[in-house]
Amino acid sequence: MLIRRPSDILPSEITPRELFLRRRDFLKTAAGAALLTAFPAIAAEKLAGARNSLFSTTETPTPYKDVTTYNNFYEFGTDKSDPVEKAQRLNTRPWSIAVEGLVKHPRTFAIEDLIKLAPLEERIYRMRCVEGWSMVIPWLGLPLATLLKQVEPQGAAKYVEFISAADPQSMPGVKSRVLDWPYVEGLRVDEAMQPLTLLALGLYGEVLPKQNGAPVRLVVPWKYGFKSAKSIVKIRLVEKEPNTAWMKANAHEYGFYSNVNPAVDHPRWSQATERRIGEFQKRKTLPFNGYAAQVAQLYAGLDLQKFF
Ligand code: MTE
Repeated sequence: MLIRRPSDILPSEITPRELFLRRRDFLKTAAGAALLTAFPAIAAEKLAGARNSLFSTTETPTPYKDVTTYNNFYEFGTDKSDPVEKAQRLNTRPWSIAVEGLVKHPRTFAIEDLIKLAPLEERIYRMRCVEGWSMVIPWLGLPLATLLKQVEPQGAAKYVEFISAADPQSMPGVKSRVLDWPYVEGLRVDEAMQPLTLLALGLYGEVLPKQNGAPVRLVVPWKYGFKSAKSIVKIRLVEKEPNTAWMKANAHEYGFYSNVNPAVDHPRWSQATERRIGEFQKRKTLPFNGYAAQVAQLYAGLDLQKFF
């Protein structure tokens, strides 16, 4: 991955207005009215969710401006400023995720269906990028497990593959060969079912900005940021370990697990410390990004030097 400095010439707030307006239209329908009664919070322009403090860090969130202007989203280019500048033309409605493969009930979920599955939760997570920077982000979403329980993975399903949109019309980076498109990521089924694993629809109390992976992305806080695939269109339950976009690009540097691990250096740089965006002094990186109590047992007996 390329390391770039944040640009200071970016617009501070990009609000996906048309998305809010269409949501308002949806709320005027019968389904919308029912939804409104169930979850009055989504009537507001903002996308609200109750704070789940059990899963949230009490650390100060990174400013909204940094969260939404310093991004990696290579479908729009490799500069940190490319996503906010170029992602606004991505059409995120209508949008659906097809959930298929080794499941008992394959199904396509529209974004509106996802919101109906469970009340949205606010989860403030530490996020650590493999490049050595980190942020604290207040996400809004639902556990991925809630979605997977709907389709019922079959016994043979061992992994979950996530496939992002790859539309050359609206995503200029897809014309470059920096990655083999579409962006593909993967988790083991038990990792996908872990309660921390989130399908995010929003951040900072609003609909997910396009540069952050609208309308729906994965968030896996104990893994390096690249595991958290953006703008997902397909989820497949499979038997074999998915060949991810970063493994295809450089399997020597980017392993399947990609758990945050200060003891395993990236071949070209140390992973022992990180720079929290907005801070000057570096911090020590924690095993599993500070989520060891919740997730370390998933890897009991696994050689983390080998399965990096
Ligand atoms: N998902 C897709 N589809 N394409 C990408 O280039 N970049 C990854 C991840 N998800 C990426 C992606 C990387 S490297 C990081 S660090 C995070 O998204 C960044 O998410 P953020 O911009 O919301 O902080």
